[in-house]
Amino acid sequence: MYIEVKDATKKFIQNEKEFTAFENVSLDIEKGEFICLLGPSGCGKSTLLNAIAGFDLVTEGSITIEGKEVLEPSTKNVTIFQNYGLLPWRTVLKNVELGLEPKKIPKVEREAIASKYIDMVGLSNFKNAHPKELSGGMQQRVSIARALAMDPDIIFMDEPFGALDAITRMKLQEDILSICKDYEKTIIFVTHDIEEAVFLADRIVILTPNPGKLKCVLDVPLSRKIAIEQAKIFS
Ligand SMILES: Nc1ncnc2c1ncn2[C@@H]1O[C@H](COP(=O)(O)OP(=O)(O)OP(=O)(O)O)[C@@H](O)[C@H]1O
Ligand SMILES: [Mg+2]
Repeated sequence: MYIEVKDATKKFIQNEKEFTAFENVSLDIEKGEFICLLGPSGCGKSTLLNAIAGFDLVTEGSITIEGKEVLEPSTKNVTIFQNYGLLPWRTVLKNVELGLEPKKIPKVEREAIASKYIDMVGLSNFKNAHPKELSGGMQQRVSIARALAMDPDIIFMDEPFGALDAITRMKLQEDILSICKDYEKTIIFVTHDIEEAVFLADRIVILTPNPGKLKCVLDVPLSRKIAIEQAKIFS
């Protein structure tokens, strides 16, 4: 199995008391799957995502990726946060190049890779713009381009479209879905929106709060996704 979460529990100390964010979560994820973590506010979605991504470790149980225990974030993977995480003083092009800089790729090649992904998210005309000149949806597209330019194995996304209007959100949902089909990325995506989860996911992991527990894992049948796609084409 690609990603294995085994009996994982995360406890925090809050006001000198122990608080369980989630407990006994077990979950197997295959390479190339699109997984949505779904549940109400406070059920531990972000905490679980951060634990799989290696930002915060579980207190009991284990999480492994390709058989290796997750102890820190891996440079093979990338996380897209809700607040876009763009550097305001850098242009769109330079923001997308950011993740390529530590890889010591020559400048010309770096620019070419960054440009390819900027084109893909439809921002070719904004390469030299700064984040403040862009709308929220455009900024989120820059952060998606930046993530893809790094050619990650796994993309972690924590409610990335939460702050966007419905139309931009729909467009980006379609983009991310076709990108992960074309490039076979594994995606773990947090949302509290049931329709978003059904539209995007191969499987939906439902968490319940107090403390966060895995309630069930739902398969989203392919036929339903095809039906949604066709309904869009013909409507
Ligand atoms: N660093 C922390 N220290 C203490 N408690 C924390 C910490 N991070 C999260 N928690 C607690 O863990 C619980 C789960 O938080 P988490 O952020 O994972 O929820 P969530 O499902 O992502 O909610 P939302 O949909 O509102 O983002 C919350 O009750 C929160 O107070
Ligand atoms: Mg959260």
